[in-house]
Amino acid sequence: MLKFLQALLVLPALASAQPADEPVIAGGTCVLDREALGQERPTTPPTIENVMGRTSQSLDGEWRYLIDPMRAGLRKGNSRRDFPNDRTAEPGGPLIEYDWDESPTISVPGDWNSQIEELRWYEDLLWYRRLVNVDLERGKRYILHFEAAGYETHVWLNGEELGTHRGGFTPFEFEVTDQLEDGKNSLVVAVDAQHGKQSIPGDYFDWKNYGGIIRPVHLVEVPRTYIRDYQVSLSEDRTMVDMKVLLDGPRAAGQRVSLSLGGVETQARTDRSGFVDVQVPAQDLTLWSPENPNLHDFRVSTGSDVIEDRIGLRDIDVDGTTILLNGEPVFMRGISIHEEAIGEVGTRLMDDDMIREILGHVKSLNANFIRLAHYPHNERMVRIAEEMGLMVWSEVPIYWEVIDYSSDETMALARQMQAESIHRDFNRANIVFWSVANETPITDPRYAFLGVLIDDARAIGGDRLISAALHKDKTDGNVIPVTDPLGVELDVISVNEYEGWYGDRTLDEIREVSFDPAYEKPFIFSEFGAGALRGYRDDSDVRWTEDYQAKYFAETLKMAEDVPGLAGISPWLLKDFRSPRRWHGKYQDYWNRKGLISEAGQRKEAFEVLADWYAERAED
Ligand code: GCU
Repeated sequence: MLKFLQALLVLPALASAQPADEPVIAGGTCVLDREALGQERPTTPPTIENVMGRTSQSLDGEWRYLIDPMRAGLRKGNSRRDFPNDRTAEPGGPLIEYDWDESPTISVPGDWNSQIEELRWYEDLLWYRRLVNVDLERGKRYILHFEAAGYETHVWLNGEELGTHRGGFTPFEFEVTDQLEDGKNSLVVAVDAQHGKQSIPGDYFDWKNYGGIIRPVHLVEVPRTYIRDYQVSLSEDRTMVDMKVLLDGPRAAGQRVSLSLGGVETQARTDRSGFVDVQVPAQDLTLWSPENPNLHDFRVSTGSDVIEDRIGLRDIDVDGTTILLNGEPVFMRGISIHEEAIGEVGTRLMDDDMIREILGHVKSLNANFIRLAHYPHNERMVRIAEEMGLMVWSEVPIYWEVIDYSSDETMALARQMQAESIHRDFNRANIVFWSVANETPITDPRYAFLGVLIDDARAIGGDRLISAALHKDKTDGNVIPVTDPLGVELDVISVNEYEGWYGDRTLDEIREVSFDPAYEKPFIFSEFGAGALRGYRDDSDVRWTEDYQAKYFAETLKMAEDVPGLAGISPWLLKDFRSPRRWHGKYQDYWNRKGLISEAGQRKEAFEVLADWYAERAED
């Protein structure tokens, strides 16, 4: 397994080892010792590839739960320490102060905040338990796979601790072949939503901290030797397709592997580590694009295992200040999105129908691009966006100054989280950006920290552009520089700007603004936006009205037309979303109201302003 990733990493890593120019940080210089920082890249495929394409028992449904704000169940030497064991009080037996079968139930997947009134604001620890009946099959291996749970998750099976995962938005798993019993099994999970000084994101951010097993859980069944991973990508010159496969198991070495992509067949044999890398000509394979989101049938089979997928091929590149998709200039007509369903309550849980409803609004905007902020969204969102022809900006929640950029623990966690995200979505053609940060402070520790993430993304992330949402420079003038030294490391310079909403510039002064990025690279407005309470109308430039938001968009889009090297925008944002920072009792009520649609899905005036502007760009 280790060899597989090293095989993947060797060439790109050497390329990125070239020392970058000495970046000059405002007020200092950061000498980035990449080798010292970049040791021990994330080395193993953290989860099985394409879990949805696998034979598995769904563990979704009703689980029992217990609320544990003092984390009593995790305290060592505590009589209640036996939470993880599925025990009930017996006559004359030891005192047990819980009984799973007498506990209430909660649905998985789903955050607890939106399901249970008394947990609406709960951000501590909740215990889950589910009984799992399994007909064990000889020669099979079993993998317990969580698509996401947050923020910190501890897992026990039949009283044996399997491990802990940190990070609320990426998949993790445990092989349970040796722990599973034939028949009934007790699965106990403790999920702690609390964030802290070493967490990612830190302990302060502008969205609701939904807690729980928020995405599906699978008990995956595979043969003793199975296809652990595959990665398919188009060569830089678009003439060849590269296909890498990794097997896992006692017969992984020297195995014959058959591959088929869009009808192009080939065979190969794995090396001693169960790894094989083959190339086939790409000439007959139609490329993926927003206009033609073409996906090819893909199939890998070995003597004992087979897996199928739908794979798109495309090339993304930059040329000066232009982004090229399959060699053609493309303008990113985007919109930012939080992972939250349309509805009066606000929940992370969304099924395919909800995803299609949300992306239906995106298509009505005449958009070709979505910025999935500020963390990896669920895999179905990415896959359905790929089918619908929407390019994706994928981001890890390195958010604001509250991250501890000097901590090795936080660095390791960030790298793990990014590797989990990149690995899950590597084969999704529509992902064109890996973003390593959002509005982070210009300091040496932050530069070094993000430099490692950028190197990792270049080494394991395939053909994507690297970016980050930067701060613009502070200025009183109308020409706004963007000189963040991190720009040296990025392919695309992105900035969040709120002229006309934050600060004292009026709507009529927005047009006087121009931006002056310090880099000859594509430039994106990764955010701009204004709050509006849907239904609040007044055309005299009154904040919080739909009219103010619509005029803000019209003026900002006019200003954007004159920004040199503007390669795209992803305004903030599609839908009003829950945030505990947004207190105004009349206009917000714990909702961030910068959405172009309300939490109930009703469009605001500004929606059509953006849709019309995109319709004109789409014809360019
Ligand atoms: C910031 C930040 C967002 C936030 C937005 C806002 O740019 O990136 O997460 O919600 O501004 O203030 O609404």
